[in-house]
Formats: sequence, structure tokens, C-alpha cells
Amino acid sequence: MAVGIFDSGLGGLTVLDAVQKRLPDVPFVYFADSAHAPYGVRKADDIFELTTRATQSLFDEGCDLVILACNTASAAALRRMQESWLPQGKRVLGVFVPLIEALTERQWGDNSPPREVAVQHVALFATPATVSSRAFQRELAFRAVGVDVEAQACGGVVDAIEEGDMILAEALVRSHVDALKRKMPHPQAAILGCTHYPLMEDVFQDALGPEVEVYSQANLVAESLADYLARHPGIAGTGESRFLTTGDPRRVSGRAVPFMKRDIQFRQA
Ligand code: DGL
Repeated sequence: MAVGIFDSGLGGLTVLDAVQKRLPDVPFVYFADSAHAPYGVRKADDIFELTTRATQSLFDEGCDLVILACNTASAAALRRMQESWLPQGKRVLGVFVPLIEALTERQWGDNSPPREVAVQHVALFATPATVSSRAFQRELAFRAVGVDVEAQACGGVVDAIEEGDMILAEALVRSHVDALKRKMPHPQAAILGCTHYPLMEDVFQDALGPEVEVYSQANLVAESLADYLARHPGIAGTGESRFLTTGDPRRVSGRAVPFMKRDIQFRQA
């Protein structure tokens, strides 16, 4: 039995790369819904339909646990999936909570009441759908009080990265950071709230300045998954990792190289 990792496209490979390094014996099935990416400009109902369909495909591949390695799906669909859709015996986890637990200096899974934390001014960079869901602010409010969050919807960045146009992606990141700084001149921390953005982490850090702590999800998700699997033995079995896409497998395999820094072969979902 493998653990499923889902993203609208290739961004979730930043999470897969980290979890494979942290959990080298666990087999994963990666699902890229490339035919429908980007999700970040879609309506919540549409994101819910697409995410449940992809998650069902991962269940059909034998996964009992699926990680939504996509903030947009985590923000727009996860709660509704858990409340009204999830089949018996299956689990779906998102990527927001590990990040917020790290930001608010909590142990994984600490559900104690919200409290004051060191960081007070936080910049959130994410897709338009993630920003409009306000899911990040909601999850943060369960854990911390007095944190001011300024969110910047980073239109166009995911498309540029999926197309492999890193020059355009860099120009867009710099203009989104400028826009954020006009609203919040001195953030203490910045959240890269999209799994595509770690590829642009150096650009975010450079544009924000060295005094801003940039939080990126991949390693945090890997640590929290390791902790989860230790507490739920038997979910992960043995075997080879596999890669599925709803897009053109050859094209998607070619575009995946910068994310994984090695060749991987996608097959048709
Ligand atoms: N990687 C997805 C995320 O974390 C990308 C969203 C998209 O497809 O627009 O939000």
C-alpha cells in the first residue's frame, strides 16, 4: 500500500521530494491533474469536484492515505471532503496545518487553545483561490491570537512554472512581493502558501530581504507525515513509487526534472 500525493500539477513534487528523503522506505503514488491545472483561478465547487475525482483515483490505486500537496485544494476542498465525502477507512490530509503549527511553535497535532506567539506580522503568498478561501487565517485563528496576516494573490506564477518559463515566474514573484510590501512594509515572516513556490524561494527571499523568515512547506509536511505514520502504523506498505498524470505523460515527465532533479516517468491516469 502506498501513500497518495496529489497536486493540480507539478508543485506537489516539492513535497514528494522532501517526503521521499525523510521516508525513503515508503512507496508513494503521485497524481498530477495537469489537464485541469492551474486550480488557483477556479471556483471552490470546481476545485472540490476535481480534487475528489483525483483523490478517488488514488484510493483506486490502493492508497488509504492521500496528502493534498496543493494549498488550493487544501483551502477550497479539504474541509468539505472530510465532512461530507470521505469513504470509510480512508484519510485525506492537507498541507496548511503543519506550516501553521511550525509558525505558531506547536508540536505536531497540538490542539490546545490559541495563544500569543512571537510572530505578529505575516505575509501570505498563495493562489487567488487560496487567498479568497481565507482558510489560512481560519486555521491560524484556531492556534494563535494577535497575528496580522496580509495575503497576496500571486496570479500567473503557477502557469509560468508549469510552462517552465522561470524568467516570467521571477518577474511575477518580484511584482507580487512589491504589491505585498505596499500593504505590509515590514513582515516578520512570509509563507509560501503554494507548493509550486519553493522553486522560487530564492527570489522570494531576495525580494523580501534577509530579515524576513521565509516558511516553505515541503520539509514541514515531511516531518509531520513521518510523525503521523509513526502514530498510525500499517498505513504505508512496501513497493515502488508511481507517477500519474491526466495530461500528456511525456510532456509532464520532461517538465518534472527541475522539481525532482532527476528523471521520473509519468504514465496516463
Ligand atoms: N501547487 C498548488 C498549490 O499549492 C497550485 C495551485 C494551482 O494549480 O493553481 O496551491
